[in-house]
Amino acid sequence: MTELLRINGDMFELFITEEQIRERIKELAARINADYAGRVPIFIGVLNGSFIFLSDLIREVTVDCEIDFFKLSSYGDAKISSGQVTLLKDLNCQVFGRDIIVVEDIVDSGLSIAFIKKIIEKENPKSLKFVSLLLKKGIPKLDFPVDYIGFEIPQDFVIGYGLDYAQKVRNLKSIYRLTVQGTAKPE
Ligand code: IMP
Ligand code: MG
Repeated sequence: MTELLRINGDMFELFITEEQIRERIKELAARINADYAGRVPIFIGVLNGSFIFLSDLIREVTVDCEIDFFKLSSYGDAKISSGQVTLLKDLNCQVFGRDIIVVEDIVDSGLSIAFIKKIIEKENPKSLKFVSLLLKKGIPKLDFPVDYIGFEIPQDFVIGYGLDYAQKVRNLKSIYRLTVQGTAKPE
C-alpha cells in the first residue's frame, strides 16, 4: 500500500487503512443492527462523499432497509468550506413517520448536517439519527450529537474512500491526510 501520495505539490500520508475502515464499519453496523431490530430505516447518503461508505455500511446491515440520497454542495473545489450549503438534489422518499439515518463521509464544520437536520425535521420523521465515518474534533457549529462515529480525527484535510480533492481521488481505498501543503492550485 502506498504510504505517501503527492498530488499537485501537496503531500498526503496514509492515515486510516482499508482494513481499519472495514473493521470499524462492522462495529458501527452491529450497533445499528441492534438499535433498529424489527424496524425498516431509510439510510440517506449525502452525495458525493458518502457513496462508498454508505455502500460498505449497508452491506453489513442485516435489518431491512431502504436508501435515498441528498446532494449538497459546500466545498466547491477548495480545501476549506465556503461556509455556504446548497441543496443540489432533494430526496425522493417519504420521510414522514419513518426512521431516518443520515450517512455522511465526514463532519467538519457541521454546517452540512445542521442544514440536513432542518430539512428532514420539517417532514416529521419517526426518528432521525446521524452516522459519519469521520468527525473532525472541536466542531464549533454543532449543537446536537452525531450518533454513530467511525473515527474522530484532527482538523486536517483528508482524502480517499469517497473524500475528494478537487473532485478526484475518491477511488483511493484508504484515507490519507495532508501533511505538507504545496503552492500548486488543484487542477
Ligand atoms: P461540513 O459542512 O463543514 O461539516 O463539511 C461537510 C462536507 O465537506 C463533507 O461531507 C465532505 O464532503 C466535505 N469535507 C469536509 N472536510 C473534508 C476533508 O477533509 N476532505 C474532503 N472533503 C471534506
Ligand atoms: Mg459529504
